[in-house]
Amino acid sequence: MKKIWETKVTGALDPGLDAFMSSIGIDARLLPQDLAGSRAHAAMLGRQGIITKETAAALETGLCALIEEARAGSLVVPPEAEDVHSFVEAELSSRLGDPGLSLHAGRSRNDQVALDMRLWLAEASRGLRKALLDALCAVLAMAEANKDLILPGYTHLQRAQAITFGHHLLAWAVALERDHGRFVDAAARADECPLGACALAGSGLPLDREAVAAALGFSRPSRNSIDAVADRDACVEFASGCAILLMHLSRYCEEVTLWASAEFGFVKLSPKASTGSSVMPQKRNPDPAELIRGKAGRAYGDLVNLLVMQKGLPLAYDRDLQEDKHAVFDAADNARACLEAFTVLVSALEPQAGRMRAAAEEGCLWAADAAEFLVLRNTPFRTAYAAAKALVEAYTGVRGYGRCPSIAGVIAGLGQAGLAALHPAWANVPLAELVPWLSLDACVQRRQGIGSPGSAATAGEIARLKAFAAAQAAGP
Ligand code: ARG
Repeated sequence: MKKIWETKVTGALDPGLDAFMSSIGIDARLLPQDLAGSRAHAAMLGRQGIITKETAAALETGLCALIEEARAGSLVVPPEAEDVHSFVEAELSSRLGDPGLSLHAGRSRNDQVALDMRLWLAEASRGLRKALLDALCAVLAMAEANKDLILPGYTHLQRAQAITFGHHLLAWAVALERDHGRFVDAAARADECPLGACALAGSGLPLDREAVAAALGFSRPSRNSIDAVADRDACVEFASGCAILLMHLSRYCEEVTLWASAEFGFVKLSPKASTGSSVMPQKRNPDPAELIRGKAGRAYGDLVNLLVMQKGLPLAYDRDLQEDKHAVFDAADNARACLEAFTVLVSALEPQAGRMRAAAEEGCLWAADAAEFLVLRNTPFRTAYAAAKALVEAYTGVRGYGRCPSIAGVIAGLGQAGLAALHPAWANVPLAELVPWLSLDACVQRRQGIGSPGSAATAGEIARLKAFAAAQAAGP
């Protein structure tokens, strides 16, 4: 296919290089955006008197037909086209004759492709935000249904303090809320229309950039013609949002994988979100969780690809930038697929309350609370810590291997004198207050401050996040 820029003098491009440089295989995906941009541009050229009203009307009719066909899937994009931009122009010219030849006045493929990517990103961001809200709602539903299940909370993957399953899921939820915010922020910064920057220096024609920006749904035209065609920050920010999101999902999926193991046994995965083994009939494998975890690597790859591709790249447009599409489309597709899978996975969690509780009862998770008991009775924290540690050591000594007595039983066995012998800070403490203070439920329910695992705090946070999700879903 002859190129729009080819003449008899220049001669033909090497067919191998032609195929190598072609982007139609990937940028055909920008067809709706390219047609929308062309339509707004043509209408503006007509209004500004740069082309005749008749030419503008013919272009409008031709472009509407193409938009319709693209929507219906009947517009065939030939694989030998150089890119989506030259395809649209060539198609219009072959259908309309002369009016098609007027379309490209005052624009370049450089500002066209920058525009197409921004339009595409705006839509992809909307879709991703919707999928994020679905995932968030699935997490909130699971948190609400299991608000008060006692679970050991971990640091260093060692049992640390008692929390609830609901509270743990809310940790996922607030990170998803931030992920959502990242896409909102990025979309606001990307809300500038590059069209009119032309190749790099703007156009000497009397373009109306404000009108084109408004017609395409942007708040304003981009501010610098060189930056407009050189800048791919919107791509990087979008891919970065995807990478951070996938980092979160991969951590949660790692937790699901651990929890579903016999060693933890905190959740079972319903058959709708787990697989069997081809050889070991007893197995249920958390494959969807593992695959989401694995696909985080792709998300990072896409981001790094965009960053490295632009490193040291001189302004303004360089053909290197054509590579942005592979990374951006893959980042969007991958994030979307992972979010949808994650939503199913979350709703397939079957929490095992007994296993969670038993694990929480075993690890002296009351130890920090024992110290706080003394702090509230005027013992300096470091002294209280030492006294609590002595209680832990006594408990561990009584416990022996493989047995798990209750701390209430151990304190009863020690008695007032035995307790005081552990550490002077324990002398004369009221046992009738200490024993219930150390129960896991009491430890959790004392924590009602903002962001804490107590029932009321958790309920408040679930309500806040539900309202956030509803408000965002109703928004633009
Ligand atoms: N296919 C190109 C891209 O994606 C379109 C812009 C080409 N511009 C140029 N001056 N060759 O970046």
